Amino acid sequence: MATKLVLGANRGIGLAVVEQLCAAGETVVATCRSERGGLDQTAARVIEQIDLSEEQSRQRLVSELRDSPPDWVLFNAGVLSVEQLGTLDEAAEANIRRQFEINALAPLMTIQALCPLLAVGSRIGILTSRMGSMADNGSGGYYGYRMSKAAVNAMGRSLAMDLRDQGVAVALLHPGFVRTQMTGNRGDIDPAQAASGLIARMAALEITNSGRFWHANGEELPW
Ligand SMILES: NC(=O)c1ccc[n+]([C@@H]2O[C@H](COP(=O)([O-])OP(=O)(O)OC[C@H]3O[C@@H](n4cnc5c(N)ncnc54)[C@H](OP(=O)(O)O)[C@@H]3O)[C@@H](O)[C@H]2O)c1
Repeated sequence: MATKLVLGANRGIGLAVVEQLCAAGETVVATCRSERGGLDQTAARVIEQIDLSEEQSRQRLVSELRDSPPDWVLFNAGVLSVEQLGTLDEAAEANIRRQFEINALAPLMTIQALCPLLAVGSRIGILTSRMGSMADNGSGGYYGYRMSKAAVNAMGRSLAMDLRDQGVAVALLHPGFVRTQMTGNRGDIDPAQAASGLIARMAALEITNSGRFWHANGEELPW
């Protein structure tokens, strides 16, 4: 049976995706860093100590997956910090760099590492945010988060083109404004609602609609 892989899944939206896939009887592999969080209550195979921003972790992930290559990959891991113009000190600069590393560079390097395992018909979803949209930015601020999510959007477009001949489809997915640790539990929806939308978008993903930017509710978003 094909394997579904959720990267960065011990809490929030990633955990909700794993819970729903497992409840549907799918074969699921989930990764986490140090904390297994809610993953212990699921039937997923958990690969621990995977920091997706580190090359060593990514190599170990690939070797752990060799016997069960995924045909469905969701890059969920992400970080957010808040920076304000006028107070961009060294700490803010480090936070901006960290958001680039995890939100934009880590998905690119992880997917490149996984590519040799992916067969024709595989699907890749990348969690981005409408905060990375130029057209949707009506309030400013959030320098590192917006810049890193804009960068991952650019990356996902290139990836969709570069993987087309390999028969692998790519979607950039905004989950909605979701009540998780990242948002201080503020938001319009719970992780479970975001997860069911994301799973539906992944089910609808194919080569003919690869490289698009979707809200989990099915709306196509402006870049
Ligand atoms: N919540 C929203 O409203 C919202 C809106 C738009 C987009 N998103 C995006 O949706 C995704 C999930 O967000 P969330 O709200 O569920 O956030 P969350 O509750 O803060 O969860 C973030 C997840 O990312 C993992 N992670 C962070 N850095 C990592 C790294 N270097 N390596 C591996 N895993 C790492 C965390 O693991 P640890 O526990 O080890 O830190 C955690 O599992 C993110 O990409 C976020 O940008 C969320």
